[in-house]
Amino acid sequence: MTEAASQSQFTPRVFSGIKPSGGLTLGNYLGAIKRFVEMQGPDFETLYCVVDLHAITVWQDPAELRTATREVAASYLASGIDPEKSILFNQSQVSQHAELGWIFNCVARVGWMNRMTQFKEKAGKNAEKQSLGLYAYPSLMAADILLYHATHVPVGEDQKQHVELTRDIAAKFNHDYKTEFFPLTTPVIEGPAMRVMNLRDGTKKMSKSGESDMERINMLDDADTIAKKFRKARTDPEALPDTLDGLKERPEARNLVDIYAALSDQSPEAVITEYAGAGWGQFKPALADLAVEKLAPISSEMQRLLDDPAEIDRILARGSERARAIAAPILERTYEIVGLVR
Ligand code: AMP
Ligand code: TRP
Repeated sequence: MTEAASQSQFTPRVFSGIKPSGGLTLGNYLGAIKRFVEMQGPDFETLYCVVDLHAITVWQDPAELRTATREVAASYLASGIDPEKSILFNQSQVSQHAELGWIFNCVARVGWMNRMTQFKEKAGKNAEKQSLGLYAYPSLMAADILLYHATHVPVGEDQKQHVELTRDIAAKFNHDYKTEFFPLTTPVIEGPAMRVMNLRDGTKKMSKSGESDMERINMLDDADTIAKKFRKARTDPEALPDTLDGLKERPEARNLVDIYAALSDQSPEAVITEYAGAGWGQFKPALADLAVEKLAPISSEMQRLLDDPAEIDRILARGSERARAIAAPILERTYEIVGLVR
């Protein structure tokens, strides 16, 4: 069977997730959450998860983990994920994730895991001291996706390799058990913000865990902080060119143009055309104003939601119930295929 033919038997379904491991950044918003909202609609069934079991692959203080979990849920809701249209839940309430994760630990090969660049980057020279969970994490991520037979996964660039591994796991499972049970999921990595860079070093990704707060915009930053961070963002002395080609060797400048484009739903080409010849004294304040205009309503709605954690917990519990209704029969069938007596 061709891949296209084998894919068409699956309901178009989107799954994606964010780890509750510290504050959310503009990278999470533009590279993930904003795109999750855009995929909500008649074309797909959508599931959005707070992947708490992934967060604990590195140490998390229990109280902070609870807060961070509700904060990610609040960011989904405040950005426009509708818990009626999408299934919004946290991973640990659907025990099938961990169960399918174990099956996939027995499908994935050690050699495949050794090629995962994110583990190498995070572990650095201290690989021996990392948790076994951090190493096995991509196999749990494959379980998150395949537990729902998800056909599409919107993620930032940094997750591409993990979605490819998910396809490898699905293909090996299907091959070993002579079945077409799991789909070969498509990563959806598009738009100008698939890799938002650090504001102090345009060659590094903007992340929750970078050393200095000045290198990232947090979704909960206030207007003055956002303006200050963009004002102090590293750039070069030159004005903006009139084509994108002129930004080739200027990673910091390119990043700010891409952020502007993503926030204003334009192409980077359109932004360059509008601002050709502009200096940073003009572009940075315009960017800061735009970011505040887009983020302020989201962060104030997040704050409002976080004042009522019980309501967030109710939404997550209800979403988990709906997620289990899809997940349970798929795990059950997987167990049968593998030969586990039920
Ligand atoms: P994480 O915070 O690592 O759980 O990431 C959650 C989602 O946000 C994933 O889809 C990431 O690819 C995306 N993401 C995180 N940081 C960035 C960034 N700097 N640029 C684009 N996407 C990002
Ligand atoms: N690994 C992803 C990250 O660090 C988070 C994640 C876990 C995820 N499971 C997923 C993303 C399933 C998409 C689909 O960003």
